[in-house]
Amino acid sequence: MAAAASLISVITRRLEGKVALITGGASGIGECTAKLFSQHGAKVAIADIQDELGRSLAETLGSSNTTYIHCDVTNEDHIKNAVNKTVATYGKLDIMFNNAGIADQNKARIIDNEKADFERVLKINVTGVFLGMKHAARVMVPARSGSIISSASLASGIGGAASHAYTCSKHAVVGLTRNLAVELGQFGIRVNCLSPFACATPLATKFVGLEDESFENTMNLMSNLKRTALKTDDIAKAALYLASDDAKFVSGHNLFIDGGLGICNSAFNLFVYPDS
Ligand SMILES: NC(=O)c1ccc[n+]([C@@H]2O[C@H](COP(=O)([O-])OP(=O)(O)OC[C@H]3O[C@@H](n4cnc5c(N)ncnc54)[C@H](O)[C@@H]3O)[C@@H](O)[C@H]2O)c1
Repeated sequence: MAAAASLISVITRRLEGKVALITGGASGIGECTAKLFSQHGAKVAIADIQDELGRSLAETLGSSNTTYIHCDVTNEDHIKNAVNKTVATYGKLDIMFNNAGIADQNKARIIDNEKADFERVLKINVTGVFLGMKHAARVMVPARSGSIISSASLASGIGGAASHAYTCSKHAVVGLTRNLAVELGQFGIRVNCLSPFACATPLATKFVGLEDESFENTMNLMSNLKRTALKTDDIAKAALYLASDDAKFVSGHNLFIDGGLGICNSAFNLFVYPDS
């Protein structure tokens, strides 16, 4: 019975033998993904600037399979070091998750938006992703394999869901994803991104200005898909799919995890049931 259970657990461990590097891995979506990847058998390197959180997560997940690396994604030396250290520790890099990101304060009028704030968001959300992609490609191309995933957002596909800087940065992540998927296809390397609606993490609750339960209630009101709520775990599971061999022919894709919100147009309201 125990042998059968352990056989099932080996079969269902979808990242057995794989090595992942997750930027922004100390908190929120990155933290949840680090846990899920680790449960599925991956060796995980967590890269972040929140050293205490990152170290304690790596300790919780077990030092033989997880490591923490201090890494500011806007600093090319840091990204280069994070990739090199992952390869030196675990022998290779199969999965790069460019997840680190920030949101700025939402100022409704563009004339109130400061250039410095705009550039700060683009530096982390776009340059950081570019550098992560570049250094992942550096080691994946000679290996002729790999999966690169980046965190975009619902704001990558529609206007008016977030600040100008954030929306612009997430559209850029899709552009980078598509361009790199075309470049790296010849090597069997897949490049995709994830576009979630909102879930309660430090980034999102600060942006909206509401804490966990009231944040979720407000998002549920806006959501197209009712009777459920988006959790970090739902995004981690989408990352797991893109990272695993289940997605072996999926590349250049922007996977929306938004319950269909991005395809709604509130001008059309044909399907409201009186008793829904
Ligand atoms: N939470 C949401 O509702 C939501 C929705 C759509 C997209 N996203 C995207 O998901 C990603 C993760 O966000 P989250 O919601 O988990 O937020 P979070 O604040 O919980 O996590 C972001 C992590 O990125 C790290 N980080 C920030 N700047 C960094 C830098 N320069 N170098 C390295 N690490 C840095 C932070 O320290 C933090 O650990 C972001 O790219 C965000 O834009 C989030």
